Amino acid sequence: MKALQKTVLKKSVAPAPFAIRAERSSDVAAREELLDLCFGDSRFARTCQRIRDGRLPAEGLAFTAIRHGRLVGTLRLWHVAAGGRASLMLGPLAVDPKLRSLGIGAALMRHAIVVAAGLGYESIILLGDAPYYERFGFFAEKAKDLVLPGPFERERMLGLELREGALAGAAGMILPTGKASGEAAPRKAAKPSARRTARVVPLAV
Ligand SMILES: CC(C)(COP(=O)(O)OP(=O)(O)OC[C@H]1O[C@@H](n2cnc3c(N)ncnc32)[C@H](O)[C@@H]1OP(=O)(O)O)[C@@H](O)C(=O)NCCC(=O)NCCS
Repeated sequence: MKALQKTVLKKSVAPAPFAIRAERSSDVAAREELLDLCFGDSRFARTCQRIRDGRLPAEGLAFTAIRHGRLVGTLRLWHVAAGGRASLMLGPLAVDPKLRSLGIGAALMRHAIVVAAGLGYESIILLGDAPYYERFGFFAEKAKDLVLPGPFERERMLGLELREGALAGAAGMILPTGKASGEAAPRKAAKPSARRTARVVPLAV
C-alpha cells in the first residue's frame, strides 16, 4: 500500500518549471543569499575565491535559474590563465536546497557549456565533485598538472575541453585574468566566426 501511495504521489507531482537566463544586477542580493545558505561564511576563504576576488565574471557567462520569478540557482564562469593558456573557471554552482534533484543544476551546467562553446572558449576548469561533474564531461585527467594559488584537493580539480586537445599538456598555476570590477573588458578568447554561429538553446522544464 505504501509503495502504491508513493508511486501515485510521485506521478501526480509535476516537475517544478524553471528557466535559465543571463544574470541581472537585480539578482545579486538573492544570489549572495543563496550562496551563503549553500556554502556558509567560509566560502570567502576558499582557494577558488582567490580567482574571483575583485573580478567580474566573463561577459555573458553568469547565469540565473528562475522559478516563479524567484532566483533558485546560480552559476558563473571566470577568465583565467591555466598554465599560461586562456581558459574559464566555473563556480560557484548552487541550487536552492528545497529544489534539488529537479535538474536545475544540470540545466545551468549544460546552458553554460553551450554558451561558452558558442562564444569560442576552448576549455573550462572547476574544483568540484567528479561524481557530479563527470556527467557534463569534466575529468581530473584533463587538469592533472594545473594548480591553484592555495590549498585544494587534487582529485576535485577537473577540466573540460570544448576544443579537442585544448588542455593537452596544460601545466602550472591557474591565475585570474578577468576584468577587475569597474574596469575595461578583458581580452576575450572568443573567435569571431564561432561567435557568429553561437546558438543558445533555452533550457527549461
Ligand atoms: C550540486 C548542486 C548544484 C546540484 O543541483 P541540482 O539541481 O540538485 O542538480 P541536478 O538536479 O542536476 O542533479 C541532481 C543529482 O546529482 C546528484 N548530486 C548532487 N550533488 C552531488 C555530488 N556532490 N556528487 C555526486 N552527485 C551529486 C544528486 O544526488 C542527484 O542525483 P539523482 O538525480 O540521482 O537524484 C546542488 O546540490 C547544490 O547546490 N549543492 C550545494 C552547493 C555545491 O556543492 N555546489 C557545487 C560545488 S561548486
